[in-house]
Amino acid sequence: MAKIIDGKKISQEIKDELKVKVAELNSKGVEVSLAVILVGNDPASTVYVGNKKKACEYIGVKSLSYELPETTTEAELLELIDKLNKDASVNGILVQLPLPKSIDEDKVIQAIAPEKDVDGFHPVSVGSLLIGQKGFLPCTPAGIIQLLKRSDIDINGKECVVIGRSNIVGKPMAVLLLRENGTVTICHSRTQDLKSVCKRADILVVAIGKPKFIDASYVKEGATVIDVGIHRNADNKLCGDVDYESVEPIAGAITPVPGGVGPMTIAMLMNNCVNSVL
Ligand code: GUN
Repeated sequence: MAKIIDGKKISQEIKDELKVKVAELNSKGVEVSLAVILVGNDPASTVYVGNKKKACEYIGVKSLSYELPETTTEAELLELIDKLNKDASVNGILVQLPLPKSIDEDKVIQAIAPEKDVDGFHPVSVGSLLIGQKGFLPCTPAGIIQLLKRSDIDINGKECVVIGRSNIVGKPMAVLLLRENGTVTICHSRTQDLKSVCKRADILVVAIGKPKFIDASYVKEGATVIDVGIHRNADNKLCGDVDYESVEPIAGAITPVPGGVGPMTIAMLMNNCVNSVL
């Protein structure tokens, strides 16, 4: 029987800590504000953006909402970002991804001033992370480190295996685990014998993008399993990249889906917003 890592509860703790910090800042006349930009009407992005705005409201961060039509041009979006970069009353800028195909995502990410890059996607933020300098950490991997730390799961010296090498999760996750003195392996679609590599892991982070892909045969007894995936199955039920029913009996600790990693991403976004004024 695994310990269930309760991301909902831990994210709530973090949000409550941040709420206190924001109230302190407000009492000194300092406001925290986040500009949230959504282009088009992708249903999942609309839900995510709505949740981000709700979190801002809860914590006391002022959110400025820019909901732009699907037909918005790259030049128009870059112009808005430029305006927000120059606006001293805006502390953080978030452009919800994915963007419509006609817009170059890399160009947009690079247009955001690094000091307002609360998603931690700008090359300056990524570079700072890699060399251990101060900067915004990408929210999902930073949230996973908080889940581990606040569940008293030791990373120091442990075998950490990350499945997935995306810029948003896999790569920064590996760097953050390394920063905590983990012995880190990154697996991906070309990895030979994925199963035997996963079996070595004391901490297994799964961001593979395939529903219920990882079953008990990939997991060492007592390992901590962190599931980054989120999918909706045929019965409209949410599931992760991990086959929870198969893995939970042998894992030492496991994150559920929903209620594991998901809520932490927004909590860490809020953390970055608050840190942007400190
Ligand atoms: N789309 C999916 N995840 C994210 C995220 O963390 N930030 C942004 N901006 N877009 C996303």
